[in-house]
Amino acid sequence: MHIMIREFHQISLRDRNSFGVEQQAAHLVEFETPDDLREIFARGIPAKWMVLAGGNNILFTQDYDGMLLTPVARKIEILDDDGTTLRVRADAGVEWDDLVEWAVERGLWGLENLSLIPGKAGAAPVQNIGAYGCEAADTIQRVEMFCVETATMLSLDAAHCAFGYRESVFKHLLKGRVVITAIELKLARTPRPKLGYGDVEREVEARGGATLRNIREAVCAIRRSKLPDPAVLGNAGSFFKNPVVEAAAAEALLAEYPDMPHYPAADGRVKLAAGWLIDRTGLKGHREGNVGVHERQALVLVNHGGATGGEVIAFARRVQQRVREKFGIEIDTEVNIL
Ligand code: EPU
Repeated sequence: MHIMIREFHQISLRDRNSFGVEQQAAHLVEFETPDDLREIFARGIPAKWMVLAGGNNILFTQDYDGMLLTPVARKIEILDDDGTTLRVRADAGVEWDDLVEWAVERGLWGLENLSLIPGKAGAAPVQNIGAYGCEAADTIQRVEMFCVETATMLSLDAAHCAFGYRESVFKHLLKGRVVITAIELKLARTPRPKLGYGDVEREVEARGGATLRNIREAVCAIRRSKLPDPAVLGNAGSFFKNPVVEAAAAEALLAEYPDMPHYPAADGRVKLAAGWLIDRTGLKGHREGNVGVHERQALVLVNHGGATGGEVIAFARRVQQRVREKFGIEIDTEVNIL
């Protein structure tokens, strides 16, 4: 058994969370293999532990006084190829966008609309990352994980992952019980462009049509034009989820705001755009101290430098309050608050 773990004590999380807040973790362990996890948990299950992958969807509001586990294995392999469809396996530590690029380079369809989403492959199923009309659940077939209680490896078919809008079983029943080690995806050689969302079609046409490469580039360009680069301006992407409301509530708001973006949800309810709601409260670009609403996408909160997690969450609560006052709508946080 070859153990590949790296351990850190009292380590700064500043470079391990995309918000760039300065908090510390008592213990952080980088692991590669299931054997590493077996070794780590054989010492006893810590009272407090969790996975910190890319740190792109998390806000630390205090120091973490437990153990953080970070996947670092980065292999991508083809398991099976019938000429049309491929089964591909990616280790949890693969950068999500490296996986998208890997697929696009090989002419494999399925991930292109999810270009440039920050984070690691192992985190993709947890909140079922999504953008431009696609989500991780469209391609994920299976998730491999280490079960902490039994110290065994498990594999879950997508059908049992309870995927929904920014939802999965990993946020609920399996939270704090498993460590995802790899994902398996189904990708296709046959073109299946999805251009229906927002500006995607126009940007793709401007590049000469719906090739895989053009779609990837169009999505990257749209994201770069709206979303701040965490390396420059600390943020965790959408800070809030788009609220899903009853049809009657949506209709009442539409009577007052006919231009309000709204999308049918699968269950007959209606999804509204939290970014639009925040924008309409007048808070887009608004800054208080070190924290602000991004000037080009109101769904994103940014750290202008030196913000603490506490400042960010206090600011977020005020944004929620303004939306509640103006529209009577609750917007929940999408980012994990710790
Ligand atoms: N809008 C505004 N003002 C704003 C922001 C948005 O009026 O400041 C309007 C837009 O014009 C559009 C609607 O709101 O009519 C929706 O905006 P957009 O297409 O930018 O998407 P979003 O709903 O704000 C979601 C995801 C993003 C994803 C985009 C594109 C969530 C919480 N967010 O944002 O995901 O990139 O769609 O598919 O579902 C993330 O989760 O971190 C993330 C960035």
